[in-house]
Amino acid sequence: QRPLRIGLAGLGTVGCGVIRLLDANRALIEARAGRQLQITAVSARDRTRDRGVDLSAFAFESDMTALAERDDVDVVIEAAGGSDGPALELAGATLGAGKGLVTANKAMVAHHGLELAERAAQSGAALRFEAAVAGGIPVIKGLREGAAANSIDRIYGILNGTCNYILTRMESTGADFADALAEAQELGFAEADPSFDIEGVDAAHKLAILAAIGFGAKVDFNGVAISGITQVSAADISQAKALGFVIRLVGVADCDDPQNGTGRSALLQRVRPCLVPLDHPLANVSGPTNAVVAEGNFVGRLLFQGAGAGAGPTASAIVADLIDLARGDAGPPFSLPVAELEAMDRADPGGR
Ligand code: HSE
Repeated sequence: QRPLRIGLAGLGTVGCGVIRLLDANRALIEARAGRQLQITAVSARDRTRDRGVDLSAFAFESDMTALAERDDVDVVIEAAGGSDGPALELAGATLGAGKGLVTANKAMVAHHGLELAERAAQSGAALRFEAAVAGGIPVIKGLREGAAANSIDRIYGILNGTCNYILTRMESTGADFADALAEAQELGFAEADPSFDIEGVDAAHKLAILAAIGFGAKVDFNGVAISGITQVSAADISQAKALGFVIRLVGVADCDDPQNGTGRSALLQRVRPCLVPLDHPLANVSGPTNAVVAEGNFVGRLLFQGAGAGAGPTASAIVADLIDLARGDAGPPFSLPVAELEAMDRADPGGR
């Protein structure tokens, strides 16, 4: 088979992580993909910045949408970020051209996942976004494929590494909120705008995507009721501890049976600081780790846990998606063909 030719948009932590991972594990990745994976072109705002990776073999596009139009690109990786603007334009152009798209962009998938899936279905292109939720943890594949035979009743978890780092630092060292946030930013897993982390928006993006996958629903980011951790004080944490709890920012999605008189299922999606009993698995999740619990009617309770951010884990999920595309595994990006995704009612008036 001829090589799969890749256009890479975004040369930040994640994009450079992909280049390094492909270099380091090339033999095993290509053996598993059944063909060579070759980056042919890259795009970033600044061409000359030293990123510690060799870009000399790649063509450079300053306008990332141009990657979609190149004859030497079969698949685009979007690791640029931003829910709208250039990232969305690139995604639309790539799928519109019938090329595969692998993205790490949770905000874009949470806001526009349905229209992108529709575009992919129209052109027969593959769309994959494992890296958008919980970094390296294969939770999308786990729910969409591993638990495909189950009806999922409930999904919940710790979906933001920055908040979990802050809460567990405050818990273990008595650090105040601002210092713990500054440390998370220095360690590089906070968003460019950390208000998305601490106000719960980033976790809500991920929850909306997981709920769509788990329940076969249309992504409904605006249906997530969100409160972040900015109001959590050191006193809250120590009082919780005295009562046998820790505080974690938890995203929960429940799918009710249709008992609301409409005959349709209703979806409850919430992100908020929760008291977690010390003997619950989520209480032991510390630092920038993510953990997702899914309850299926035959499989029982599944726990997915691991690094939710960072170059290595996120690149790992992106390259796993690339391997799928290289093999020609192009099932629907959500758990059902896009035309069959259900528009669910909201069980919680707290959504927007
Ligand atoms: N800012 C995110 C987090 C990065 O802290 O979890 C991964 O999505």
